[in-house]
Amino acid sequence: MRRRTLTTTEAPAGAWSIIQRVLPYLWPAEAPSVKLRVVAALAMLVLAKVVAVTTPFFYKAAVDALTPETITPAWALGLGAVGLTVVYGGARALNTGFQQLRDVVFANVGQRALRQLAAETFGHMHRMSMRYHITRKTGGLSRIIERGVKGVDFLLRFLLFSIGPLVLELLLISIILFFVFDVWYLVVVLVTIVLYVTFTFRVTEWRLKIRKIMNDEDTDANQKAIDSLLNFETVKYFGAEKREAARYDGAMRNYEAAAVKTLQSLAFLNFGQAVLITAGLVIVMVLAAIGVERGDLTVGDFVMVNAYMIQITMPLNFLGTVYREIRQALIDMGEMFGLLEQVPEVRDRAEAGTLTVGAGQVVFRDVHFGYEAARPILKGIDFTIEPGQTVAVVGPSGSGKSTLGRLLFRFYDVDGGAIEIDGQDVRDVTQESLHARIGVVPQDTVLFNDTLGYNIAYGRPEATPAEIEAAARAARIDGFIAALPDGYDTVVGERGLKLSGGEKQRVGIARTLLKNPPILVLDEATSALDTETERSIQSELQSMARGRSVITIAHRLSTVVDADLILVLEAGRITERGTHESLLAAEGRYASMWARQRAEAEENAA
Ligand SMILES: Nc1ncnc2c1ncn2[C@@H]1O[C@H](COP(=O)(O)OP(=O)(O)OP(=O)(O)O)[C@@H](O)[C@H]1O
Ligand SMILES: [Mg+2]
Repeated sequence: MRRRTLTTTEAPAGAWSIIQRVLPYLWPAEAPSVKLRVVAALAMLVLAKVVAVTTPFFYKAAVDALTPETITPAWALGLGAVGLTVVYGGARALNTGFQQLRDVVFANVGQRALRQLAAETFGHMHRMSMRYHITRKTGGLSRIIERGVKGVDFLLRFLLFSIGPLVLELLLISIILFFVFDVWYLVVVLVTIVLYVTFTFRVTEWRLKIRKIMNDEDTDANQKAIDSLLNFETVKYFGAEKREAARYDGAMRNYEAAAVKTLQSLAFLNFGQAVLITAGLVIVMVLAAIGVERGDLTVGDFVMVNAYMIQITMPLNFLGTVYREIRQALIDMGEMFGLLEQVPEVRDRAEAGTLTVGAGQVVFRDVHFGYEAARPILKGIDFTIEPGQTVAVVGPSGSGKSTLGRLLFRFYDVDGGAIEIDGQDVRDVTQESLHARIGVVPQDTVLFNDTLGYNIAYGRPEATPAEIEAAARAARIDGFIAALPDGYDTVVGERGLKLSGGEKQRVGIARTLLKNPPILVLDEATSALDTETERSIQSELQSMARGRSVITIAHRLSTVVDADLILVLEAGRITERGTHESLLAAEGRYASMWARQRAEAEENAA
């Protein structure tokens, strides 16, 4: 069950199911005003198209008014050629007006949907479990969201403002051709369009493959160039300038071939489209010319037919591009919805209650766990933190110490056994309530690229400046901050890189002090500090530990001598347990570690 979440992107779902996923955002039950806007935009769309297909009528009437022997139809309202031409111009302007109005009305709907989708995907990412985030590249995730949202935007705009109107227009024009002229005009137009669309889609599919090759070659040439320039020193050492240039030229030659093919295929596409549409146009106009010669039609009709054909051609010209872009948009959206469908590995049970911490007893009961099934990390961990006690975990690197904290915080679920807080299994309570009651100072504190004040206040956003300063004082970082020109407003850089390891660690301690939780996990919380600072923070941490249940993981054994219980963890098993004195008396692993660290400390002192 758990492993399944590891599969990254599922195959993109079908186009229709993807569109169905977007529809609720455009037709939200909770926002009638949005629905109203959609209806208004669609009305504008229809109006624009109705005006568009009537314009050629005025054009025709104007031409007929200029040809003396024809009778002006009744709907021309007795306007002369000039009047009809002005009406024709007005209709054209009205068409554009409705189109723009449609865009304006729909803008809110579209942008609102995009924002909601992006926010929902973002929120979902934070619900995903640690395993998921460790496996994925963060940059990749945000790019998928970005591309997916762009894809939705694109699809909305093209489906609603390009394909939709085109279909509507074709339909209206077909009806007009059928009723005003006769069925043969309709047949020619329909056959032309079917051939045109089929041809365009087929050729575009083929061109997509060529374009992919071209893009791959481009990437390849680019990578070679960058790699070569990064290694310019090595290139010089080996006198390989000519070799590098030849290699780059070789890569570019492949690109050249693919690019030429792309351009040639574009020419083929354009030419084929032109031939099809021109053939349709000519046949329809020949039909009209014969009609005029026979006296069935007027010159105005001949001109009108031409105007309709031109009106059809223009949007069709973009069909190849639209098709290609929509395909890409569907793929991008499929990827984003794929993310949304990923089920978080760690989930709240349906009947999960709130964690209530009374005394704060923490029990690890025969806990078994492995990040991967094939490699168990914890092999039967049993211990209890009695209320208000501090349990220290020591042991070699990689033995699973930090893993204990991650399991208590429920970043992962145990494979066997249970972890309980005051008798409540951590799997039976909501993660929100669990997380609210456990404070963690992690082994590597990572900070937000914001101010020191923001990073400390992250522990409790509603904290007052006085409380923030008190926490900073307790974490012994107040002096450092006071010495900074910008004080609490100093920006710490990405991930906190502008601070030293020890400064970051103290910010991490300060914000956990501010959070003030009943249960504390200190994972080498002071490892990056010099002995003196460590000692002064230790006293602060000890006063903080009073009345709380604490797991403290430490490398320097001098920091754990006062713990109520010390566990020695080796390769996922507790090999020794007891107080400092009893472990020393036992003369086991702990005693030898202690002796070694004492000797080192004395050496350093000397
Ligand atoms: N996300 C992960 N996926 C796979 N293996 C992991 C993962 N995290 C940790 N491990 C492995 O689990 C083992 C225990 O890791 P853990 O971080 O608990 O060690 P530790 O005792 O805290 O070590 P240290 O003293 O170096 O911090 C290590 O061997 C590590 O390689
Ligand atoms: Mg660790």
